[in-house]
Amino acid sequence: MALGLLLALFPACVDDQVVFRDHPHFEDPESAAQGFLGYSDWESGRTVCGSCHVGREARWSHTAHAGAWATLAATGSPPTFCEGCHTVSERGNPVEGPAGWVATGNPRYYDVQCEACHGPGFDHVTVPDAPGNQPLATLSLGENVDQGCAACHSGVHRPFAEEWASSRHGDMNPFPQGREGCVACHEGKGALRAWGVKSVFSPNDEAETLGITCAVCHDPHDGGNRGQLRFPIDVPSVDQNLCMMCHSQRGEPPPVAGRGPHAPEGPLLLGTAGWWPPNLEFSPGDILGTHGSEANPSLCAGCHVVGRDMEDPATGDFAFRATGHTFEALPCVDGNGIPTGERDCGLTDRSFEGCTQCHSAAGARSALIVATDRIDDLVQTIAPMLAQIPEEEFANPDRFTTADGSLFNLELAEFPGSAVHNPFLIEALLTASIRQIEVEYGVSRPSSAVSLERQLTGP
Ligand code: HEC
Ligand code: HEC
Ligand code: HEC
Ligand code: HEC
Ligand code: HEC
Ligand code: HEC
Ligand code: HEC
Ligand code: HEC
Ligand code: HEC
Repeated sequence: MALGLLLALFPACVDDQVVFRDHPHFEDPESAAQGFLGYSDWESGRTVCGSCHVGREARWSHTAHAGAWATLAATGSPPTFCEGCHTVSERGNPVEGPAGWVATGNPRYYDVQCEACHGPGFDHVTVPDAPGNQPLATLSLGENVDQGCAACHSGVHRPFAEEWASSRHGDMNPFPQGREGCVACHEGKGALRAWGVKSVFSPNDEAETLGITCAVCHDPHDGGNRGQLRFPIDVPSVDQNLCMMCHSQRGEPPPVAGRGPHAPEGPLLLGTAGWWPPNLEFSPGDILGTHGSEANPSLCAGCHVVGRDMEDPATGDFAFRATGHTFEALPCVDGNGIPTGERDCGLTDRSFEGCTQCHSAAGARSALIVATDRIDDLVQTIAPMLAQIPEEEFANPDRFTTADGSLFNLELAEFPGSAVHNPFLIEALLTASIRQIEVEYGVSRPSSAVSLERQLTGP
């Protein structure tokens, strides 16, 4: 078939460079392989799939998956049980084992190739354009976290899947699928659609609610960004930073008041969040959080995705590996420092180990307590002042008032993590809001109020 005709039939492939070849160059696999094709030439790393899906192969070849066998081999003589995850086998796809490498020991199955995730391709390659014949990868991790990526990225040495399952990304409030505006951040398939990833995968069922699964944040085919992520984590931009693309729904008040902050972390870290009272002598962006600056190059992930190995305190042996995929900056831990998966423990039961790249654990803890106390003082000042403002000043559909803006700033201050995301901005916003309330409504500060001058001059 001519290339032109194929592209006309399958316009979706133009971007991804599917080049049809009449005679894809490969030997039929042994029957024990269960239809896995693997490499057409393992020494040069050419997959059978890549003889048509040229663009995908070119990008995949720069991922760690393409070198997984070499990594394993470099450890000397690894035991056989290591091999299934570093090769094409029954792991990561719907085939029941043994299959691929595990059944044949043929080097054409080295590495985590296309079929590790997509399943066997023999039928598809025989009749590539037959509908329903395409081997689709899954985005789901299954009920017991054993499918797809989890088939290899789990277990005591690499509990990515288990930690993810305990996180809010893995355990989301179900959102109505119809609400495209919400699923763009609150559901895995919806997020991919919002980002323009239009590919077919399983489950393709709109009714199934996925969390933010591995392949939402990670790009299976592209090693261009660090950690094989779809978007970078080190760019200070709410439109380009992986975390901030979702964690930035409402950092500033909407034009018609009545709605508080919604995932304001990105704008807060970058210093643009909040209502800016007229008396505030700064402009949005001037008051960057320390951790939104070059002092913390990985930004959100610098605190929320921090992996580490833990030793048994008695023996010094490996005890546990944290992968950072609970996404908690201060995870709740037990007496041995092992995360418990709880979310609402007190400060004393939280681990500050994730901060120790830059602070001592004790230093980070006391800095956080100091910042929280300073904000609390201002919250105690502004809250009773807001209570004295007449009700019609709030959420009036015709005008946005100082009362609305100040309430928004109060809610921003009370958002979990604000004291570390950008304490300086929160203090400036609350201080200026207090002044504006005094001027505009003649409401005075409670007698117990702290001196605003102290707040303004900083520590
Ligand atoms: C002989 C060429 C050829 C080979 C080899 C080949 N494919 Fe395909 N593939 C195609 C064509 C043609 C399509 C149809 C494109 C379309 O429908 O837009 C396709 C579609 C797909 C699709 C679905 C894309 C969609 O939009 O529906 C997936 C997934 C896929 N191939 C994966 C693979 C995998 C994995 C391998 C290796 C086992 C492989 N292909 C090998 C030609 C090939
Ligand atoms: C068949 C087993 C297997 C499956 C399935 C699998 N992986 Fe991997 N993955 C590996 C191995 C092995 C490595 C380490 C390769 C190396 O370092 O040589 C790895 C490495 C990675 C890395 C590290 C990249 C880096 O730059 O350090 C990421 C990210 C990753 N995988 C994500 C995924 C995602 C997302 C999925 C599912 C879409 C997935 N993996 C499915 C086995 C697998
Ligand atoms: C259950 C699947 C699985 C098994 C079994 C497995 N690996 Fe891996 N291995 C992975 C994954 C996934 C990664 C990449 C993610 C990571 O860094 O944890 C990886 C990464 C590695 C790496 C590079 C990163 C590092 O940790 O240094 C080496 C080396 C390695 N494996 C060796 C081995 C050896 C040796 C064995 C057997 C003792 C083994 N693997 C068994 C899945 C597996
Ligand atoms: C680590 C797992 C993994 C590996 C390895 C992998 N894929 Fe995929 N692939 C996926 C997932 C998950 C999707 C759906 C999400 C996406 O497109 O990013 C997908 C999507 C695709 C699609 C898109 C289908 C469409 O509708 O456009 C094609 C084609 C494809 N993969 C081919 C390949 C080929 C060829 C290779 C090897 C060179 C490969 N994949 C390697 C997991 C993987
Ligand atoms: C919310 C986004 C997000 C989700 C969901 C996610 N990850 Fe990650 N992952 C990250 C970030 C951020 C990093 C850190 C990258 C860095 O610092 O270089 C990372 C790192 C990794 C690494 C590399 C670790 C290393 O030591 O090099 C692997 C492997 C990985 N993730 C696998 C997975 C798997 C498997 C899943 C699903 C169970 C998953 N991730 C889900 C964001 C995510
Ligand atoms: C596709 C959108 C999306 C991306 C990308 C994303 N998140 Fe999330 N995240 C969410 C949603 C939605 C929730 C809330 C889920 C719920 O509670 O129902 C959430 C929850 C969280 C929570 C827990 C909040 C709580 O109340 O316990 C943390 C922490 C978090 N994300 C950090 C991150 C970090 C760090 C990154 C980047 C590595 C990231 N997120 C990337 C959408 C996303
Ligand atoms: C731009 C991304 C984005 C959009 C769009 C979005 N949200 Fe969110 N939402 C988030 C993130 C991220 C979180 C979790 C982080 C946080 O709590 O700060 C969250 C948190 C929530 C929470 C609190 C969850 C909890 O368990 O505490 C609710 C409720 C919510 N969103 C509802 C909605 C609804 C309803 C819509 C659609 C009208 C929507 N969101 C649209 C990103 C978004
Ligand atoms: C300096 C480290 C640090 C940085 C950088 C950071 N955070 Fe946080 N974050 C924290 C701490 C500490 C908390 C409070 C944890 C707690 O009280 O459970 C927190 C709380 C949160 C929460 C609420 C969690 C909950 O349990 O309710 C979300 C969501 C969140 N951060 C997302 C982000 C996002 C998105 C970014 C990047 C825009 C970011 N964080 C940057 C340290 C950080
Ligand atoms: C990549 C480096 C880095 C990481 C990781 C980091 N910090 Fe910081 N932090 C800094 C620097 C630099 C400062 C400013 C100088 C100082 O006070 O030590 C700072 C200052 C602070 C402050 C004072 C207020 C401010 O914004 O300047 C608090 C509170 C704080 N850190 C808490 C934390 C907590 C809690 C964590 C872990 C969840 C953490 N930090 C992780 C680099 C970091």
